[in-house]
Amino acid sequence: MAEALSRGGHEGSVACGDMSLSPIGEAFAVRVQGITKTFGGQRPALRDIRLDVRAGERVALLGASGSGKSTLLRCLCALESADAGSGRIELFGRTLQEGGRVASDVRSLRRGVGIIFQQFNLVGRLPVMSNVLTGLAAEAPLWRSLTGRFALEDRARALDALESIGLGPQAFQRASTLSGGQQQRAAIARVLVQGARLLLADEPVASLDPESTRRVMDLLESLNQRFGMTLVISLHHVGLARRYCDRVIALRDGGLVFDGPTSALTPAFLQGLYGTAAEELIADEPDAAEAPSRALAGLPQPQAA
Ligand SMILES: Nc1ncnc2c1ncn2[C@@H]1O[C@H](COP(=O)(O)OP(=O)(O)O)[C@@H](O)[C@H]1O
Ligand SMILES: [Mg+2]
Repeated sequence: MAEALSRGGHEGSVACGDMSLSPIGEAFAVRVQGITKTFGGQRPALRDIRLDVRAGERVALLGASGSGKSTLLRCLCALESADAGSGRIELFGRTLQEGGRVASDVRSLRRGVGIIFQQFNLVGRLPVMSNVLTGLAAEAPLWRSLTGRFALEDRARALDALESIGLGPQAFQRASTLSGGQQQRAAIARVLVQGARLLLADEPVASLDPESTRRVMDLLESLNQRFGMTLVISLHHVGLARRYCDRVIALRDGGLVFDGPTSALTPAFLQGLYGTAAEELIADEPDAAEAPSRALAGLPQPQAA
C-alpha cells in the first residue's frame, strides 16, 4: 500500500530516476509479436505468443508449472532470445529482440526494467545497502561498480528507498540476516533505485509466508500506484492474481489461453482452462480469507484482449 512508501516521513523523497517523469509517454510498456521459444528439440516452451501491456498496467501471468511463465519473463528482458525468425518484442516502443536476435542497445533498454525472482537474488554476504546500490551499477562508471564506491548522493538515494519501504534499520546488515520477506523488499528497493519503469517479477512470493506475501504484494502495488510502474508478475495462485492485478494472461503448455480481466477467474472458468491442473492454481492459497479489499479506483483500466 502507499503507506509502505511513506513510512518514516520520507513520502515523495525516493529518487526514482526516470520514474519521476511518469506517467510515461509510450502507450505500450511491452509488445510481444509472435514469439516462439524452443529448447533443444523439445516441444516449444512458448508458442506464437502475442500480447501488449500498456504502461501502468498490473498484469498477472498465470499457469501451472512448466507452462512457460519464466521463459516468457526471461524473453521480456532478453535473458532468453526467442527462436530464430520468430517475431519481435518491444519495450516502451524500442525493439528488445527481433527474429531471435537481441538488440545491440540491450543494456540501455534493460536499465528501465527491474527483475525480481523467487530466490531474491541478493548477495548474502554484502550489506543490504550494497545490494540496493547495484541497482545503479548499470548507470555508474565501470570503476565505480568494480570498486563499490558510490557517490554520497547515490547512497542517500539507496537509503531513502530502503527507508521508504521500512527497511532503514536493516540497511547496514548483511542481506543474509534478513527474513525472506525483507530480502524480497530489499530486491524491490534495488528496482526502485534503478528507476525501472517496468517490473518483471517471477513468482516473487512463492517462498514467503502469508504476512510477508501480503507486504511484498502491497509494496508492488504501491510502486504501480505511486510511480506508474508497469507490473508483470507471474503467480502460482489465482487468489493473488485476482487481488492485486487487473488483468491476467494465462499460459498452458507454452500457449496463451486467456487474456482478460482477473474477475473472470472463477473456479469453473479455471477448470475449463486447465482441467485438473486448475487445482494447482487454486490450492494452498495464502491468507485468502484475510484479504484486504483493494482500492482500485482511479487506476489505469486493463486492456483485455
Ligand atoms: N533452460 C532450459 N532448458 C531446457 N528446457 C527449459 C529451460 N527452461 C525452461 N525449459 C522448459 O520450458 C518449459 C517451460 O518452463 P518454464 O518457463 O520454466 O515454466 P514455468 O515458469 O511456467 O514453470 C518447461 O517444459 C521447461 O522444462
Ligand atoms: Mg517458473
